[in-house]
Amino acid sequence: MGATSPIARATARLYAQQGRPVCVAARKQQEAQRLADDLKVRHQVPTLAIAFDATDFDAHPGLVKEVSKALGPIGVALLAFGEMGQQEDSQESFESAHKVIDINYTGAVSICEALAAHMVKEGQGAIVGISSVAGDRGRASNYFYGSAKGAFTLYLQGLRNRLFKDNVHVVTVKLGFIDTRMTFGMETGIPIASPRSAAAAIVKAASRGTNTLYYPPFWAGIMGVIKSIPEGIFKRLSL
Ligand SMILES: NC(=O)c1ccc[n+]([C@@H]2O[C@H](COP(=O)([O-])OP(=O)(O)OC[C@H]3O[C@@H](n4cnc5c(N)ncnc54)[C@H](OP(=O)(O)O)[C@@H]3O)[C@@H](O)[C@H]2O)c1
Repeated sequence: MGATSPIARATARLYAQQGRPVCVAARKQQEAQRLADDLKVRHQVPTLAIAFDATDFDAHPGLVKEVSKALGPIGVALLAFGEMGQQEDSQESFESAHKVIDINYTGAVSICEALAAHMVKEGQGAIVGISSVAGDRGRASNYFYGSAKGAFTLYLQGLRNRLFKDNVHVVTVKLGFIDTRMTFGMETGIPIASPRSAAAAIVKAASRGTNTLYYPPFWAGIMGVIKSIPEGIFKRLSL
């Protein structure tokens, strides 16, 4: 889901290369169809393109049913959608903040619950949720997006603990900087990883049953330091 993300595209390609049927779900139906057709031709696997809007909560249970009816039980579900929004816009209008929260948190929870119900029934499956290092500590510059991702991280943790006994695994992916639309034009001294390398790490984490993946991995160290800064000092920094 969020199949127009370069990270999602690269992940879909890796699963198709393994010979797995792939469903690509995206807000832009035409683009999803183009991606599905491309995977089908290149890798000779069954594919399905489906319209998916994270904020169309009522449609989520039906969407899961449609995918499993067409392609069989869902093995791995990747949630790759997200929207950073503009921090200034969210400070000025709650409508903008609400959208960021609905896409990154409420929508993610809604589709995860539909997936969880399906996977518990099947007694197998993995849900891979892409969260962010932005969810590890609230910062002045992006706390609407950060708090939605932080809530999603906590939600995934709880879901993982709930589904463990049902043989359903949940992976939390905390991404640092990846070269996508979201980071376009960003100036930073920290290396920006490719979507393809992120996809390879995601596929590996799902198959190994990793609980939490920081990618690139050095972000675990960066966030360890950032989280250890006392609040009295942190609030004086411009981060
Ligand atoms: N790039 C980074 O450095 C970075 C860092 C941390 C976390 N992340 C997370 O990584 C994931 C992938 O993002 P990306 O970096 O690949 O950025 P991206 O290219 O902007 O991809 C974001 C995806 O989310 C989709 N989306 C946005 N709102 C949606 C909605 N209401 N319903 C359905 N889909 C929606 C977009 O679809 P449209 O094409 O229709 O807009 C697009 O497919 C996101 O969860 C993001 O928060 C990225």
